[in-house]
Amino acid sequence: MTLLWVDGSGWNSQNDLRIHESQDQIQVIVVIAQRKSVSSTRAMKTSGMSKKRVEDVLYVSPKMQLLFDLVKKHLPEWDEEKLRKNADEAWKLVFEVADQDDKPRINELFERGEYNTPPEEEVKRIDAPTDTQRILFTADFHMGGHRSSLQGFYETIEEENPGAVVIAGDLARPSRAGTQLTAIRKIVGKRPCAVALGNHDFWTGNVMGKNYHLMENVIDDFWTGPCRDNDLVLLDRQNALWGDVAIVGGYGHFDLGLAWPNLILDGEPVGEDIYLKGDGWNDFNYIPQCAEFLKVNARDQAAGVAKRLDQAIADKKRILVAMHTCPWSELNGHPRTGSYSDIFTGYSGNSKVGKEIKKRASNIEFLMCGHTHFAVKERKIHGIPSLNVGADYGVFRGVIYDTSKKTIKWVGETAF
Ligand SMILES: [Fe+2]
Ligand SMILES: [Fe+2]
Repeated sequence: MTLLWVDGSGWNSQNDLRIHESQDQIQVIVVIAQRKSVSSTRAMKTSGMSKKRVEDVLYVSPKMQLLFDLVKKHLPEWDEEKLRKNADEAWKLVFEVADQDDKPRINELFERGEYNTPPEEEVKRIDAPTDTQRILFTADFHMGGHRSSLQGFYETIEEENPGAVVIAGDLARPSRAGTQLTAIRKIVGKRPCAVALGNHDFWTGNVMGKNYHLMENVIDDFWTGPCRDNDLVLLDRQNALWGDVAIVGGYGHFDLGLAWPNLILDGEPVGEDIYLKGDGWNDFNYIPQCAEFLKVNARDQAAGVAKRLDQAIADKKRILVAMHTCPWSELNGHPRTGSYSDIFTGYSGNSKVGKEIKKRASNIEFLMCGHTHFAVKERKIHGIPSLNVGADYGVFRGVIYDTSKKTIKWVGETAF
């Protein structure tokens, strides 16, 4: 079975549709319409899907359904074709004329960003084994903004049938947490599943006008609820306890401690002031006051990891660590290019988190991270077998760690 998960109706999704259409392999199509999308059906038409395939569209988002309902009620002169062609204008008019009865529904969909959760029956749930001996570790799905890697994830789950799943960050923007975590839950089926957050999962921008420069607030307001609703363990808040194993992890952030030492560009040494400009590194555009609170957030992250590690040690568990960012520079996989992008190495991880993990290294059995999108093959660092899964935009990669044999198997697109 081939699952095509079309996330949004922008050009990336339409490109995906064309590729899959040409391969003539689609059996199930799930469309998640984005905020600005005209409609799922139009996305299909624009992409050049055949008429038959357009009829195969299984799903109109709740947001679009709401618009249909409100237009019928308040703008009876609009027919469906006019609505589909002028959805943005329809929204504007509907906002103006909506009455008290409509407002809570509109607000709920827009403010919570959960207007497009696909209905339950659209994706086959996979019956799962109950043991957690073989754990799939992966990262960097980037659902939403780029071509995501859900197809590879789905295929790997079908082929490998792991007992449990850990996804270490860069899931989706906070406003889409509910939708995307529901998508993950549907693919993993009944398996135990834990997620950590990544830098992209803190991209609130400034729209909400609240204190979202502090990552703790983003976790509380955007991620804990949807994780609970989808029965996912949020590693940024608690350990996943599966048999004799504890998964300990979280985001990590960057503290500039993993930057290339003594970096010189254009003949000038690169100092902290340059790193804090974040020029070209998008977190500085989308995480509010990223530069000002870089050290506070890095410190909070390290304290959280230390606390959860100590808890797992007190619980006498075998500890497997899943971080989004790199705790040590050996894991960032960054080639030294001699170009401006060498600055980005400074954003690859958090040396404070690295120090906390190193202090407890004798208690840790395995460590993985993601974030840089460069795969690093397992090697012992401070005595811990450690690796970077190196998943990339649209490229699914992960490892299956067998907790009884203590073996590591790479899955997804070949990295080495
Ligand atoms: Fe990423
Ligand atoms: Fe990342």
